[in-house]
Amino acid sequence: MSLLFTKSVKLGLLLRLICLFISSFSVCISTPPEDHINCSSSSNTNCTITNSYGIFPDRSMCRAGTVAYPSNEEELISVVANATKNKTKMKVATRYSHSIPKLVCPSEEDGLIISTKHLSRVVEIDAEAKTMTLEGGVTLKQLISEAAKAGLALPYTPYWWGLTIGGLLGTGAHGSTLWSKGSSVHDYVVGLTIVSPGGPKDGYVKVRRLNDGDKDLNAAKVSLGVLGVISQVTLNLQPMFKRAITYLSKSDSDLGDQVVRFGKEHEFADIIWYPSQHKAVYRMVDRVSTNTSGNGLYDFIPFRATPSLALAVIRATEENQESQSDADGKCTSAKLVTSTLITNAYGLTNNGLFFTGYPVIGYQRRLQSSGTCLHSLEDSRITACPWDPKIKGEFFHQTTFSINLSLAKNFIQDVQKLVEIEPKALCGVEIYNGILMRYVTTSSAYLGKQEDAVDFDITYYRSKDPMTPRLYEGILEEIEQLALVKYKALPHWGKNRNIAFDGVMNKYKGSEEFLRVKNVYDPMRLFSSEWTDQVLGLKDGVTIVKEGCALEGLCICSKDIHCAPSKGYFCRPGKVFNDARICTLVTTNKAS
Ligand SMILES: Cc1cc2nc3c(=O)[nH]c(=O)nc-3n(C[C@H](O)[C@H](O)[C@H](O)COP(=O)(O)OP(=O)(O)OC[C@H]3O[C@@H](n4cnc5c(N)ncnc54)[C@H](O)[C@@H]3O)c2cc1C
Ligand SMILES: *[C@@H]1O[C@H](CO)[C@@H](O)[C@H](O)[C@H]1NC(C)=O
Ligand SMILES: *[C@@H]1O[C@H](CO)[C@@H](O)[C@H](O)[C@H]1NC(C)=O
Ligand SMILES: *[C@@H]1O[C@H](CO)[C@@H](O)[C@H](O)[C@H]1NC(C)=O
Ligand SMILES: *[C@@H]1O[C@H](CO)[C@@H](O)[C@H](O)[C@H]1NC(C)=O
Ligand SMILES: *[C@@H]1O[C@H](CO)[C@@H](O)[C@H](O)[C@H]1NC(C)=O
Ligand SMILES: *[C@@H]1O[C@H](CO)[C@@H](O)[C@H](O)[C@H]1NC(C)=O
Repeated sequence: MSLLFTKSVKLGLLLRLICLFISSFSVCISTPPEDHINCSSSSNTNCTITNSYGIFPDRSMCRAGTVAYPSNEEELISVVANATKNKTKMKVATRYSHSIPKLVCPSEEDGLIISTKHLSRVVEIDAEAKTMTLEGGVTLKQLISEAAKAGLALPYTPYWWGLTIGGLLGTGAHGSTLWSKGSSVHDYVVGLTIVSPGGPKDGYVKVRRLNDGDKDLNAAKVSLGVLGVISQVTLNLQPMFKRAITYLSKSDSDLGDQVVRFGKEHEFADIIWYPSQHKAVYRMVDRVSTNTSGNGLYDFIPFRATPSLALAVIRATEENQESQSDADGKCTSAKLVTSTLITNAYGLTNNGLFFTGYPVIGYQRRLQSSGTCLHSLEDSRITACPWDPKIKGEFFHQTTFSINLSLAKNFIQDVQKLVEIEPKALCGVEIYNGILMRYVTTSSAYLGKQEDAVDFDITYYRSKDPMTPRLYEGILEEIEQLALVKYKALPHWGKNRNIAFDGVMNKYKGSEEFLRVKNVYDPMRLFSSEWTDQVLGLKDGVTIVKEGCALEGLCICSKDIHCAPSKGYFCRPGKVFNDARICTLVTTNKAS
């Protein structure tokens, strides 16, 4: 996520002050958050749905007939039963719907959206057994704070607390570790209740309680939402502990050699890689005794409420650099962003107020995850999350995949070869804080990670115009294909562009088992949609071949027309990976 220039921050603060004094000033009027679910009538019918970014990878729109907001398990069961009886297609939507792909769309325009917004209670905490039972719509923020009240902690979580337990399980979300049972939240699930369609004899609904050791739990833990609605989840927790965090910035020249060793050395290790700056920031995070002093806090700067005006200035700058092919400008911006983040310890403070030096020590609950921008949504015209579609702000693609631990070094070195050929190519990625590298682990979940692996998270500029190539278009496409094709990487289910999911089920040993369970739980396929059928290999169409399709990751180019020949971008083999097909700028030798 990009960062502010100090001037813009000052401008934003100034505007905020003006607002405080002249409250009739139109820009100050706060608007209530407009949902990603938008219905045309007050009875929740005739709706459109998107995700929290307001757009899907293919830019299509999704419709639904009705939205239901059950507020307890009983109501949820009744909603599913009624819809099943009526053979209505269904999908679960969460409070914010943070997944990028089209997971939230029901397969028919008159389908039903079941929102988990009001299924957000903590059902039970058993301090002795160290377990916590939650309703499916509980957010990670809630989970962390409620568990902490009972002296408990979930050790490895996503870094963003706006996700729900149902949604983050649905897509296999994770933090970073190679230790213990690993970094995926689903590997700490010891029980789960799922509400699925039933036959007339069952009253059209079937409620299954799956416990540890139950084979079907391997399907339900990471389900893409196609098995039914997860009404409750029981997690195994640990006693609250403290962590110590130190960021260490180094040259990336031996990153490939360090990556495995580093991951094994620190319990919560991760790495932020800035390839064009030849820099890697190693985040050394370890558990420390609870009696170690320190009350550190993590409030990751790119997840903070940001002045909307500043976001608009930053986006305009980026658009300008793109249209001018200003690679040097992007590299200058990247250095500014990186140095500001490093100087400010990425938003860590030793006591909640000031950063005074490493290590930052504090309770797990204050350091594991953040997302204070969510609480700014009420007045998005003043401040917002950087990607809020209601304002002019960030607009990006995200390519996120995991590569077998034993192959991570080769992949890193291939990317380094690309940087040698095009030294400025990845400055654009560094504006979004570089490539985040996290450790993920083998899971028994059928759609979970198949091997211990390094997860690479890459965010980059997306044009508002689908036919406009980005600067160094081809290099990013080559990295994507290197990972997915050469190194057979697994895509994150909740991120990525369409091509990442082409033939993806062939990469999972348990894919047949998953589909078997799906047929048992939802034989009428009411929770399936066009997108989930395509991803699960039951239907063609994950890739969309049309003019300019490679620019948006809807296809891998095979003809020039899939790129932007009128703008000088032609379909060519990769520069390091010969089997890649990428859109390369051919008319000049300035960028590709
Ligand atoms: C700023 C940001 C930071 C992120 N950081 C991380 C990170 O650190 N690590 C990581 O792994 N990912 C991360 N993600 C990605 C995120 O994990 C996934 O997108 C996640 O699935 C979204 O959760 P959600 O609650 O918004 O679910 P949604 O996107 O709304 O739903 C995901 C899927 O789960 C299904 N589903 C949701 N609830 C239920 C339920 N109760 N029963 C059945 N099915 C259900 C939905 O139908 C859908 O198919 C991040 C995303 C953002 C926006
Ligand atoms: C909701 O839909 C209506 C039309 O159906 C449209 O006018 C309005 O702008 C939409 N709101 C959002 C936030 O998309
Ligand atoms: C549903 O909304 C669309 C616009 O969003 C409108 O064109 C259509 O007429 C509406 N249909 C009904 C049945 O209200
Ligand atoms: C389900 O249908 C029954 C019978 O038509 C109705 O009484 C009940 O209110 C419905 N439940 C929901 C949640 O819509
Ligand atoms: C029943 O199904 C029809 C067609 O799918 C749909 O339009 C209608 O809203 C559904 N009714 C209920 C109560 O789900
Ligand atoms: C902290 O606790 C450990 C035992 O958990 C103990 O060995 C150590 O002496 C304590 N340190 C301090 C400074 O109290
Ligand atoms: C991943 O690496 C392990 C060794 O670490 C190896 O056994 C396995 O075959 C590899 N898997 C793939 C898909 O390359």
